[in-house]
Amino acid sequence: MPENAHMASARPSEKKPGEDDQGKKKRKNKEKSWASGPRDPFEMLDALPEEKQQEIQKALHLFSLGQGPPRSLAEARRHTYHFWDTQPVLKIDEEVTSPGPVATECGPAREDPFSLPQGFVWDTLDLQNPTELGELCAFLNENYTEEDDNTLRLSYSPEFLQWALCPPGWQQQWHCGMRVNTNQKLVGFISAVPATIHVCDTAKQMVEVNFLCVHKRLRSKRVAPVLIREITRRVNRHGIFQAVYSASAVLPTPITTCRYWHRSLNLRKLVDVNFSSLGRNMTLQRANKLNRLPQMPKTSGLRPMSESDVSAVQDLLKSFLRGFELSTVLNREEVQHWLLPRDGVVHTYVVQSPEGVVTDLLSFYTLPYTILNHQVHKILKAAYGFYYASTTTQMLELMEDALIIAKEKGFDVFTMLDLMANRSVLEQLKFTTEDKSLHYYLYNWKCPSLTTDKVGLVLKR
Ligand SMILES: CC(C)(COP(=O)(O)OP(=O)(O)OC[C@H]1O[C@@H](n2cnc3c(N)ncnc32)[C@H](O)[C@@H]1OP(=O)(O)O)[C@@H](O)C(=O)NCCC(=O)NCCS
Repeated sequence: MPENAHMASARPSEKKPGEDDQGKKKRKNKEKSWASGPRDPFEMLDALPEEKQQEIQKALHLFSLGQGPPRSLAEARRHTYHFWDTQPVLKIDEEVTSPGPVATECGPAREDPFSLPQGFVWDTLDLQNPTELGELCAFLNENYTEEDDNTLRLSYSPEFLQWALCPPGWQQQWHCGMRVNTNQKLVGFISAVPATIHVCDTAKQMVEVNFLCVHKRLRSKRVAPVLIREITRRVNRHGIFQAVYSASAVLPTPITTCRYWHRSLNLRKLVDVNFSSLGRNMTLQRANKLNRLPQMPKTSGLRPMSESDVSAVQDLLKSFLRGFELSTVLNREEVQHWLLPRDGVVHTYVVQSPEGVVTDLLSFYTLPYTILNHQVHKILKAAYGFYYASTTTQMLELMEDALIIAKEKGFDVFTMLDLMANRSVLEQLKFTTEDKSLHYYLYNWKCPSLTTDKVGLVLKR
């Protein structure tokens, strides 16, 4: 574990699912022993008034700028990837001659988990257990953020995580946690879910890796590479050697680079909580007028998807997504799981022709933010564009209907990635983009880089 050289390594240990866990019962009492010895500076920080904490955190954030993984290709070319250079991924600027695995020899995966630094243990989370699911929610809601400016935090619900982490074929071993040995506090997590990915004419069984997260106080200590190695081992044990994932960091090597685009549905609130700002010479009244949406969806035959639409939706998506170089391939059970409407998680609508044929599809998922330190607003309701397919309805009309439905359901903002050739529609519908990019990656698969209009794969946030 060379990238972990400054951490003492411990004997690998892993709790098995269902194992009786005395440690967990003691968790609460032992929370204090997280920092033994001299007083924990973070405990001291916690003891300060909220305002002081914010100032210090902002300053820390400013000082840390320039560290961390590269954010641009130019930075990536200068960066030494101590971990990623050891992995079967394309090097930055490496040319692809033919698609295929990077590592052609994949021997049997090792049986033993990777060593963790002393004081930490592996755990496999049981997400069917409401306590552990709640614990993961709390961990992600506290820590799944790169920058902490104390205004907005993603707020994962148990229902959302069950949807995102337990699709057909899910494996408990792929919900991989890392805990502090003494108090069993969850301080690291990484997950994988099965996915069939169509990439440049090949359909490949892969996993989607997501929710890589290290406790804020354990950052920059080379924990992430250990989590990545361990999830890779657990996935390899199932005979799967490829993965797809996304990150805002530039790692070796993006297959495509997209951006989040936002469409305000409740501009006053977005401005109030600093999510959006008004342009120069723009008043709230004028901006509201420009952003006004029709009261009702325009497409006739638009209705919520139901169980009886599953086969039709599967066919529709199959032929729509086939047009992209990188896309997902969903079987019947996966269409049921990912797209059938679930309260507070995913909304899907189909367009049915007068002859009863399902011709178009739109969907979006729900991922709210908690608004911190605001007198009035506590929650920002965000809808995220998910899969869509159109054969008879214009894309523009379909997406506008998605906005109308989301507004009617009380969402404050609609967010989409500029994939699936939707850029011009986003512009026409007054979406605006942020500076930050999101890069898509393939693990152990060579493929030439793709423009975003060639991508029909929506990786969840
Ligand atoms: C992403 C995160 C786990 C990285 O942890 P960290 O403490 O900053 O980094 P570590 O010291 O443990 O590891 C550094 C290595 O991880 C790599 N790395 C950093 N972010 C990464 C990411 N999102 N995906 C994969 N590798 C990443 C770095 O490039 C570096 O490897 P290198 O030497 O080859 O360049 C941590 O910042 C975090 O939890 N962030 C909040 C949640 C988040 O943004 N998750 C990623 C969503 S894509």
